[in-house]
Parts: sequence; C-alpha cells; structure tokens
Amino acid sequence: MKKQPIGVFDSGLGGLTILNALRRELPQEDLIYFGDTANVPYGSKSKTAVTKFSLAIARFLQSQGVKLIIVACNTASAQALAELRKQISVPVMGVIEPGAEKAVHTTRNGRVAVLGTEGTVKSRAYPKALLKRRPGLHITQQPCPLFVPLVEENWGQKPAAELIAREYLAPVKQSGADTVILGCTHYPVLKPMLAAILGKKVTLVDSADTLAEAARAFLTEHGLAQTRGKGRVRIFASDDPARFKRMAGCLLAEKIGAVRLKKLTL
Ligand code: DGL
Repeated sequence: MKKQPIGVFDSGLGGLTILNALRRELPQEDLIYFGDTANVPYGSKSKTAVTKFSLAIARFLQSQGVKLIIVACNTASAQALAELRKQISVPVMGVIEPGAEKAVHTTRNGRVAVLGTEGTVKSRAYPKALLKRRPGLHITQQPCPLFVPLVEENWGQKPAAELIAREYLAPVKQSGADTVILGCTHYPVLKPMLAAILGKKVTLVDSADTLAEAARAFLTEHGLAQTRGKGRVRIFASDDPARFKRMAGCLLAEKIGAVRLKKLTL
C-alpha cells in the first residue's frame, strides 16, 4: 500500500496550489493530479452536477490504485465529500476541515470571514466546520465569482482585479474579521493584493499547508507513508491537455511534465 500514489483532483488548474504544498510536505509520495477542464467551473454549478463529476473522477483515481484521494477543490469538498465517502472505498480528504481548523486557531477576536465560490458559500460548509470547532464565532461569507476567471486569465495584477477585490472585500472589512479564509483554490494567487486591501491586522488563511500536514499525519498513522525515494507527479486533464500544460506554469512550482487526456465517464 505504501508505494501506491495519492490522487488529487480539482475542477481545473487551481488545485495545483494544493499539489505544491503536497510536494513540499510529502516529497517521497507519487501523486496523480486530475484537472476536470471539461467541466470547470464547479463554483457556479449545482450540487448534483458537482457530485456527479467528483464521483467520476474518484472512480478513475481509484482505478489507478490510489491509497488516498485529496479533494483539492473547495466547491467539490463543500458539496460532494459526504457522497464520495459513501461511495468510494479509498479514504477521502477535503480542504474545508483543515482550513477551518487553521482559522479557529488564528482568530483572536472571534470574527472570521470566508471567501469562496457561490457553490461553496451556498453550502455553508465553512460556517458549519467553524462553528463545530468554536460555537459563537462571528462568520461572514462573501462569494467572489470573478476571482477565478481573473486568475485563469492571468489578470491578477491588473487594476481591474483590484477594483473588483475592493468591492468584494468591503463587507468583509466592515465585519471586523481578523481572519479571512481563502476558500477557493485560485485565491492564494491573489494573496498579496488581498492582504494589501485588508491591511496588516488581518491574517489570510489558506488550507494548502494544513491539508498537506493532515495528509502526512493520516498516512503515518495508518502506516501508509512512503518514506524513501523521490515521488513523481502524473497529470491528467479531461479536456485540452495542451492548454492545461501551458497555463499550469504560473501555478505549479516545478516544471510540468506530460499532461494526458482522460475523458470522464459520467
Ligand atoms: N476549484 C474551485 C474551488 O476551489 C474554483 C474553480 C471552480 O469554480 O471550479 O472552489
């Protein structure tokens, strides 16, 4: 079992930010990344659709012999995790719980804000995970649907991105939150700009490192950790792998190898 790879999936490219953290924390592990470029974005789709895509990807990863599946996508973690755990026999970890865990340890004034896609916000997965850990927290949620296309188009540094961010963050600033969860795979790319708008007193939390630490703890605890050698990364995309490869450069910290096409059976 130790030698089996870990499967990681996202609706597209954004989950590569999670892959980077996993590579840092678990350099010996083989990783299989699946980007569902045929069905992205998940953020504006129904729970039924997101669950259907997630199950199809998990079944593919399972067919590749993975020992653990990591749902790097916040929207899929928020909407499909329970169903995945019901239907898939491999252990499944999502990004919501690690993000919530980090946030409750970060906040000093008990006020937390969550930025995410419409689907993630609507599911209330973050408020539920936060309140389970610390009842009485004051939570503000803000959907930021325009952030994903801005990052995908590499427009994160443009003045238009800042104008939009100021608009989205106005209610967050007003809420007095001292901790803001970047509840979407793409938002860590905008971190410097978001931090500048929110000011020094606000801490931005992303779940990548906490998730990678939780994955390490899980593997060690279950005797599944690969302790020797150098892990390799295999990447699949459900549509246009050449475009995926071209765009992945700005998100992945290492040189990207071949991206293979794998159409999903829905
Ligand atoms: N991966 C999604 C998430 O983290 C963002 C992109 C999408 O909407 O599919 O919520």
